[in-house]
Order: sequence, then C-alpha cells, then structure tokens
Amino acid sequence: MINLIAGNSSADLAKKISKKLQANLIKSEVKIFPDGESKITLKGKLSKSKSIVVQSIYPPVDSNLLHALSLISKAKDCSNEVMVVIPYLGYARQDREFLPGEIVTMKVLGRLFKGAGASKVIVVDIHSKIGFKHFKIKSENISAIPDLVRYFKKLVLKKPLVVSPDQGGKLRAKEFADKFGTEFIALKKQRNRKTGKVQIKTEGLDEVRNRDIILVDDMISTGGSIIKATEFLKKQKCNRVFVACTHALLMNNAEKKIKKSGVSRIISTNTIPGKTSIVDISSTIVKAIK
Ligand code: R5P
Repeated sequence: MINLIAGNSSADLAKKISKKLQANLIKSEVKIFPDGESKITLKGKLSKSKSIVVQSIYPPVDSNLLHALSLISKAKDCSNEVMVVIPYLGYARQDREFLPGEIVTMKVLGRLFKGAGASKVIVVDIHSKIGFKHFKIKSENISAIPDLVRYFKKLVLKKPLVVSPDQGGKLRAKEFADKFGTEFIALKKQRNRKTGKVQIKTEGLDEVRNRDIILVDDMISTGGSIIKATEFLKKQKCNRVFVACTHALLMNNAEKKIKKSGVSRIISTNTIPGKTSIVDISSTIVKAIK
C-alpha cells in the first residue's frame, strides 16, 4: 500500500488524495518551539513501499519548505521512490536573476529536493516552467484550469470575456477561454522590480464594454495585479469582474482591497486552503500520480 504522507499545510487535500488512491494516510503533527524550531512527528507507520508527500509551500514559506524537506527525508528512509506533490510552490517566481546578484532560489530548491531524497516533484500551475529547468529530478506541472472552468460554467455570465492581467499569463487565459468556449485578451502590465508596484500599460479597450470579465491568473499575492487590472477594466465600462486563480495567497488584507476595487467574486483552488478556495483539485492530482 502506498504511504500518503500529509504535510501540515495540505492536511485536507492530502486526505482527499489518499481516499481516491486508497493509500495509507499518514498525518503529521508540527510543534513549534519558542525559538522557532519545528518538531515534526508522523502519526502512523511507514511501510516499505512507494511514498507520496503532499505539502504546499505557502506562508510561512520557509517553515513549510523545511517541513516538506523533512517529510521527504523521512520517507526516503523507507521508500526507494518518493514522489512529492507541492500544490503551491512558493519561490517559483524567483526562477532567474532578474537584477544582478539575486539568488535563483528555484535552483536552491532543486538541489534541496533532490538531496532530501525526492524522485519526482509534481506542482500545480507552477508560475513558469522555466523554474523546472533547475530541477535535476523528474518534474511535472499540472493545470488547474479545467477544474476552474468546470466551476465557472455553472455561473450565469453576460457575454463573458477572459482576461489575463499580463502578457505572461496569455497562454493560461487562452487555455481557460478555449475550454470555456469564449474569447480572451491579455493586458500589458509593468511591475517595478524594486518597489513591486504594478501599472497597466494597455490603452483604451472597447471590446470589454458591457461584458462580464473572468480575470485569470496563476496566483494572487498582494492583489496588486488584480486590483490594477480591475480598475482599468471598470474604466472601460465592463460589467462584473470575476477572478479565477489557482493559488490565492491573499496577503495583507488583499481580499478586502480586491473587493473594494470592484471584483464581484474570487474563486480559487484548494492548493492553498482559505475562504475563496472552493475548487477541489484532488482528482486532477490523482490523475497525475497514476
Ligand atoms: C505575476 O506574473 C503573477 O502571475 C501574478 O500576477 C502575481 O505574482 C500576483 O502578485 P500580486 O497579487 O502581488 O500582484
């Protein structure tokens, strides 16, 4: 029987995956000491078969990363094959040296996962596949778009138009629009690499007028990208704005700020548990594992 090791950050999702795989679910418990160190305890016995570790790397990112590495290392003591499912992979945006001297953290992660004993890493909607270039073990990206589209098809929308807040998300928006059966556009966004502030550089757009918008993005962190895109689209007299994203981090009160900018609803997946994560991607993960 497969060992399905549930990391603390993905307890519910791991349970769902384990049920579908009929695996031996092994929960983990984390105790944080006053000095910030973690003690991780497995709540079950590992058998000498294949192991799958499920642990999302969202804030606290460094702790959740260390927990993932610890679980992989423990699994490796028993299993020749350790598959790692990272529903949300923090640090995926640091996949190149944007400014001189910056560390390419994805390269560090690649070395750490391999060193800890992982044989394969599966990620849901990695920020960019460039990140995998730094991994010297098997890696696979899976798309949450089909699951998000299935949810959006149940909503009653007026002349829906899929919009990516930036050119980097163009293919993602196309995939969503093709599956949904509508058109898409991608805005031009500029981010100041020092301050992190974003600006929409697209000029007037008549085609959004009176249409419901589905803003598609891989992730929401501070909400800056979604807010700027929504403000721009509202100025162009669009109808309602819905957000479809895989990973909703929603840092620093982002949900409230996004709603204030005019977004009617945010729909995300359970790669990161939270109020908006109503789309379950466990079946898609199970398909990739099999
Ligand atoms: C950027 O290229 C990503 O696809 C997201 O649009 C971005 O990382 C979201 O971050 P924030 O919510 O802070 O704008």
